Amino acid sequence: MGADHSSPTLRHMSMETHLLVPDDHGLGRAATILRAGGLVAMPTETVYGLAADARNGAAVAQIFAAKGRPRFNPLIVHVADLSMARDIALFDARAEAVAAKFWPGPLTLVLPVRATAGLSPLVTAGLTTVALRMPAHPVAQGLLRAFGGPLAAPSANPSGKVSPTTAAHVQEGLGGKIDAVLDGGACSVGLESTILGLDGAPALLRPGGIPVEALEALLGPIAAGGNADKPNAPGQLASHYAPDAPVRLNAKAPQDGEVWIGFGPECRGAHLTLSATGDLVQAAAALFQTLRDADRLAGPGGKIAFAPVPDHGLGRAINDRLNRAAAPRP
Ligand code: TXA
Ligand code: MG
Repeated sequence: MGADHSSPTLRHMSMETHLLVPDDHGLGRAATILRAGGLVAMPTETVYGLAADARNGAAVAQIFAAKGRPRFNPLIVHVADLSMARDIALFDARAEAVAAKFWPGPLTLVLPVRATAGLSPLVTAGLTTVALRMPAHPVAQGLLRAFGGPLAAPSANPSGKVSPTTAAHVQEGLGGKIDAVLDGGACSVGLESTILGLDGAPALLRPGGIPVEALEALLGPIAAGGNADKPNAPGQLASHYAPDAPVRLNAKAPQDGEVWIGFGPECRGAHLTLSATGDLVQAAAALFQTLRDADRLAGPGGKIAFAPVPDHGLGRAINDRLNRAAAPRP
């Protein structure tokens, strides 16, 4: 494939998307594709990411094209280790402490970007800050090491659709538009990283895989800091994570024609459940797969209804995604 990518802007609209086994050979092939400016979907502990060389503008532009992103939202930069992170952003004492405790893991830090970072301006969308994450998944770590540089990676789904937690989900959404998928099985956390702004007072930009309570134990109170998905339009609820069927929330029982998704033992009789025992960790891991299953069960004209999920710990991230899934569609 390597030669095909010397000129990524001239790539064909439809290409073969290779499914790669994440052994040394597969990681080596993936790194070669990335060096040539191609796109590789990689498993992380949160969701699958669509990775490109963060220093190659043409490669990063292909991410937006493949996802059909309507505009150039800034992307998260994935790093192999702290020294790579410190080359890109300025770490103060708080950032060092948070990284020491929660990295590698499902936490993204928004920090002042260094003038010498060398990132494509598309990655930061012209901001003075950069979003950085060190993933814990061994395949993501293996790819970052094999590639040897920072990787820009949004979730590997068409814009606005449900995020992928398996290689098959990636193929379903982006097959034919990207070069390869590293198959690392199902993601253990199941929803995206928590985004913490540390360029000023600590701000929660997106609830996610690290509960905000755990961050507050280290940093003190954290303000809800705007909306990372819509930095220019705070307060507007973006439709996102949307299945085809309409979604109703806080449903204690199903109405006619609805697929009812339960949470906890009181939802006996639900068609599907996020967690029969009411376990938020299990519910987060099951969320996106369950949305896909519900969509399939609902069929054309069908509807989806979710039982209430408590709004603490990972429940906050689950409810954030459910609110977006239920938001009015554009
Ligand atoms: O778990 C995750 O975070 C996954 C995996 C693949 O790592 N990635 C992910 O990326 O969710 P994405 O592109 O879907 O979400 C990135 C979010 C966007 O909402 C974007 O607005 C925000 O990060 N973001 C990126 N850079 C930012 C910055 N400098 N300031 C504020 N928000 C930023
Ligand atoms: Mg996303």
